[in-house]
Amino acid sequence: MALVGLGVLAGGIAAAVAVLLPWLPEPASREAGRIDFVFWFVTIICIVIFALVIAVLVYSIWKFRARPGDDSDGPPTHGHTALEIWWTLIPTLLVTSIGVVSAVVLAKNDAQAANTLHVNVTAQQFAWSFSYPSGGNVTSGTLRVPVNRSLELTFTAKDVIHSFWVPEWGQKQDTVPGIHPTLHITPDKVGRFPVICTELCGLGHATMRTYAIVMSQQAFDAWLKTTGGAQNSSNSSVSGESVFTNNACSACHTLTAAKASGKVGPDLDKLPAYALKAGQPLESFVSESITDPSKYVQPGYPDNVMPKTYTSLPKDQLDALVQYLIQSSKKG
Ligand code: CUA
Repeated sequence: MALVGLGVLAGGIAAAVAVLLPWLPEPASREAGRIDFVFWFVTIICIVIFALVIAVLVYSIWKFRARPGDDSDGPPTHGHTALEIWWTLIPTLLVTSIGVVSAVVLAKNDAQAANTLHVNVTAQQFAWSFSYPSGGNVTSGTLRVPVNRSLELTFTAKDVIHSFWVPEWGQKQDTVPGIHPTLHITPDKVGRFPVICTELCGLGHATMRTYAIVMSQQAFDAWLKTTGGAQNSSNSSVSGESVFTNNACSACHTLTAAKASGKVGPDLDKLPAYALKAGQPLESFVSESITDPSKYVQPGYPDNVMPKTYTSLPKDQLDALVQYLIQSSKKG
């Protein structure tokens, strides 16, 4: 009776700690639901074993403790074959079952579903961008996706290793320059979830965040169509503002005109003053600061933080961005 009582008490405390504290976010994808199932499967096994061990341990300490003045040896015991068979067999079965459940979940989470939506995810210091091959390569700084449809995310890293994570979706993927890993996710809850970089990737790592917005299929189709239309019609005259937004310059820079308030790099509202101090004409100063950021480093800001990837901006985009920055900074 005492053993059972102790077991129930220890099990109850462990179960309360597991259930009452919010250890994991509410899952918002089918994959996260399966991963949660594995966590609970393992946790329940752990609680039962914990209760058993604590019950026997506490009972033994209390029942078989040495009485004051008792210096005699304990009875000599040597082995117990039946017990040894059981304590080998039960853990073997439990660990094997965890292995089997995990393998099934991994296989299901990796499986290619029908009617998959492909999204290309690009990571660079310090921003995410998402493009939709099925929507004429529309690009977006937020990940907009339809609910209850399988996504295949294909990752590209432009500079260093980053890691894609939406906590509510469960799955994580490192993005490594030179390879293009994929990840399957089926969001099953409408809402707005954080996209986080979980690999230290430089000074702006903590700012490398955006949102995943899960919407109905109709709302997604409408968004893809209008955004695609807007991006394609403006192809003839590239907008500097959209270049600024798409490259997530706001993660590191302040620019009032773009409602950007990043603090990692120089304050772009002050570009005319910076150019004056550097003794350079404003336009070439701005252009060179983007394509060759180490040539002149604004005093008070660290060198080698501005990504070198912007050298690959197409000329029309670079020109549009430079003009946009000049006009915006003069206003600010
Ligand atoms: Cu990208 Cu941390």
